[in-house]
Amino acid sequence: MEHHSNIVPWEITAKLKGFTIKYAKVNPDGTLDYDDFESKLCNKTKIACLSHVSNVTGVINDVKRIGKVAHDNGALMLVDGAQSVPHMKVDVQDLGMDFLAFSGHKMLGPTGIGVFYGKKEVLEKMAPFQGGGEMIKEVAFSQEQGTCGISWNELPWKFEAGTPNICGAVGLSAAVKYLEGLGMDNVLSHEKTLTKYAVERMKKCGKVTVYGPSDLSKKCGIIPFGVKGLSSHDVALFFDNYGVMLRSGFHCAQPLHEQVLKLQSSARASFYIYNTQEEVDRFMEVLKEFEQL
Ligand SMILES: Cc1ncc(COP(=O)(O)O)c(C=O)c1O
Repeated sequence: MEHHSNIVPWEITAKLKGFTIKYAKVNPDGTLDYDDFESKLCNKTKIACLSHVSNVTGVINDVKRIGKVAHDNGALMLVDGAQSVPHMKVDVQDLGMDFLAFSGHKMLGPTGIGVFYGKKEVLEKMAPFQGGGEMIKEVAFSQEQGTCGISWNELPWKFEAGTPNICGAVGLSAAVKYLEGLGMDNVLSHEKTLTKYAVERMKKCGKVTVYGPSDLSKKCGIIPFGVKGLSSHDVALFFDNYGVMLRSGFHCAQPLHEQVLKLQSSARASFYIYNTQEEVDRFMEVLKEFEQL
């Protein structure tokens, strides 16, 4: 179910550190197999990682449930919130997240900045992963002993080596305030309304298959689909000619496509706060052109 960015760094680090990664199964409709996930956790598990919302199917995972089982086994939980934080209220304490990562550019903010949240007591125990200015309290040479003593700065500076992305932080802060002003519950309900409106209509098109769970209450505003006889890239190009932008391909989630959905690729319609019902109508008009092809 994961975006490559929650697979590849772990694979790289496993080779460096020598730990084992276990992958949980995903049901054919793209929902998580909770029993399988939970059966993979044991007292040797250090960390359970999963996305809060899939960027392919829009499936919302019950991270609270996974967090509880992870903690019962003495493990931590890291959540990829790249597709949840921009679209819904996320309470790290209520959901039991030890770590949460998300990107600025998916929530109306600038590129090149994101957020990595960690529980204070966990971060206190962790060593810095990067060295440089500002992340130290003291750097002191001892001429007699020929050594250099370094002590780390307090949180969060311990993890913020070098000059930070100041412009990015200002931009992201403006985006956060804007979204908070709209109200995250309103953001989610707007997207869910458009998704329901679109999926109900798409299902009436004979040549179209909508992937992912049929229970829309378990997902947010992302609709992966295919058109019979056409590659996802052809579908996206066709829509592009009508001024409708879709994404096509693996969406950086090749295992989900190949192992679970059994697809080479998919086309994906997705909604955010700026999309309207009229735009869904336009999308449907173009989709209906496929019936004539
Ligand atoms: C679920 C998910 N995780 C992680 C990422 C990676 O985000 P970024 O490209 O900002 O590192 C994305 C988006 O590409 C995503 O959709």
